[in-house]
Amino acid sequence: MKRTSLIPELRQIIAQEKQRGRVIALVPTMGYLHRGHLALIEQAKQTCAYVVLSIFVNPLQFGPKEDLSRYPRDLERDVNLIKHAGVDVLFHPTEQDMYPHPIVTYVEVSQLDAVLCGATRPGHFRGVATVVCKLFHIVQPDLAFFGQKDYQQYLIIQRMVSDLSLPIEVCPVPIVREEDGLALSSRNVFLTSEQRQEAKVLSQSLIEAEECLLAGERSARELEKQLREKISRNCHGVIDYVEVRDAGDLSEVTIIERPVLIALAVKFGSTRLIDNKVLEVIPHV
Ligand code: PAJ
Repeated sequence: MKRTSLIPELRQIIAQEKQRGRVIALVPTMGYLHRGHLALIEQAKQTCAYVVLSIFVNPLQFGPKEDLSRYPRDLERDVNLIKHAGVDVLFHPTEQDMYPHPIVTYVEVSQLDAVLCGATRPGHFRGVATVVCKLFHIVQPDLAFFGQKDYQQYLIIQRMVSDLSLPIEVCPVPIVREEDGLALSSRNVFLTSEQRQEAKVLSQSLIEAEECLLAGERSARELEKQLREKISRNCHGVIDYVEVRDAGDLSEVTIIERPVLIALAVKFGSTRLIDNKVLEVIPHV
């Protein structure tokens, strides 16, 4: 596996591979890798001859009161973890490499960025879209892989690619979970053992919501209410949001008739966890 932190060096490596006719995949991450990230790499490897993994904790997507300084970082641990994963080149720029001077050019995917996580994290998705757009221009991948754990992020990137006619296929990868259902996240290391125990209620509540839907419940508000109650009853976490929205464009839903996204964010102390499930509806006959 090659490694570089330098944009010009990475461009050179990729230009050579492109000349050889290789299909290039990009897997963007902020590091402190886990099995969720590895699933993205695996999927990339299955479809593309050359896999670029980026690790960059992007300051643009953190709010002033968020956890940028304490975000877990350990490059050597990450390098060890991906030794046999099939990454061809690891791109790990410093902040100075990516933003040598304060930037004034941003990519904003409006509307989609105003709801769910965007409502409580103003500027977050502008930071994400901007860095991903920058990575797309540096790497020029044919395909790019994003986890459905961050479903809103995936939709935003897909919309950016479509609106700006970028020649990149955005590929979603299903959520990877712990045995008890908790979605893997780099932030899970911050949970106390009690919080970790309680956090399994998030995925459990999503499964229950699916069961309610299968049993015939069609009211989005009723589903949200049941989810909130289940979470509040079973943990000390503070609910940021629990929402049922259209799975295609995140628009509001009252009666569930199309595929919907059930998404939630809950704060355990200062650790904010998110989870979601896309639910299909089987029409009544
Ligand atoms: P990060 O949180 O490191 O996640 C990198 C990628 O891994 C994202 O596409 C995310 O959805 C995916 N991922 C994380 N946990 C997952 C899980 N349990 N199952 C499946 N996929 C999972 O998301 C970011 O970084 C950043 O916002 C980034 C896109 C790199 C831009 O800075």
